[in-house]
Amino acid sequence: MTGKITAPAIRARKGGDKIRMITAYDEPTAHIADRAGADIILVGDSVANAVLGRSDTLGMTIDEMVYHTAAVARAKPSALLVGDMPWLSYHTTPKEAVHNAGRLIREGRAETVKLEGGEKRLDVIRAVLDAEIPVMGHLGLTPQSVHAMGGYRVQGKQAAAAYELITEANLLADAGVFAIVLEGVPDVVAELVTEDVAVPTIGIGAGPACDGQVLVFHDALGLHDKRTAKFVRQYAQLADIAVEALEQFFVDVQSGAFPGEAETYHMPQESAQILEELHKGSAELPGAGLVTDSFLADEAMEQ
Ligand code: KIV
Repeated sequence: MTGKITAPAIRARKGGDKIRMITAYDEPTAHIADRAGADIILVGDSVANAVLGRSDTLGMTIDEMVYHTAAVARAKPSALLVGDMPWLSYHTTPKEAVHNAGRLIREGRAETVKLEGGEKRLDVIRAVLDAEIPVMGHLGLTPQSVHAMGGYRVQGKQAAAAYELITEANLLADAGVFAIVLEGVPDVVAELVTEDVAVPTIGIGAGPACDGQVLVFHDALGLHDKRTAKFVRQYAQLADIAVEALEQFFVDVQSGAFPGEAETYHMPQESAQILEELHKGSAELPGAGLVTDSFLADEAMEQ
């Protein structure tokens, strides 16, 4: 295990080794991400789609995000832990945003937070930073703006919109975010942002020029059979492997091959004999406590 990765350490990776980021939503997936060498684990509000079966991220609440963040934190990852701020948890007042970011840190044990948006969110970003909470920005295709964008559309395709995006990235970097996620933007736009801003850019559907890349855990590992976006590369089809494994379990259940000797507990022979006699009615209960105690001791040994 390498040492703990911090927000300043990620900030210092600008232009250096590519940053490896992946989402996770619970303790086992966080362990897997950390063992694989993630630099950053994001507890994304994409948990809505990836785990909770929702069609967008808008229903996620701060309570739900705290719950998932705390589960991930229990893996004690070396990776930097980023908690995603859900829609409406930072869109009202800076005070409320600081309160909600603080919940992700205090109750969820995140080390930093991520929030979507550019110029409109600068006051909130400054307030959260003032509370000593490192902030990761998120520009381009920001899923919490799905209705305002008119759908999940690649952003910055026209020169004016691309120029605005580059300006907003600079505003975020100047405000003090430690990194910026660029989602769903043309490669050339991400390249210009990456050249321009002083902090690392982390791309998802933003081409290869970014300082790092992020994917959603369940997309990258093929843990579902939903259609994925063009930018997703599936590195495994774990859903297929899981189905095959469970099919084999069910075959074994039906054939009686499961459980076998290795998966079965036994009583000490002496206790088994007494039990059999009791069961047949050919013996009285001699020191029932003894029978129970020795069975419990046997159980404890085998745990
Ligand atoms: O919620 C999420 O998983 C994200 C990533 C796609 C960057 O915001």
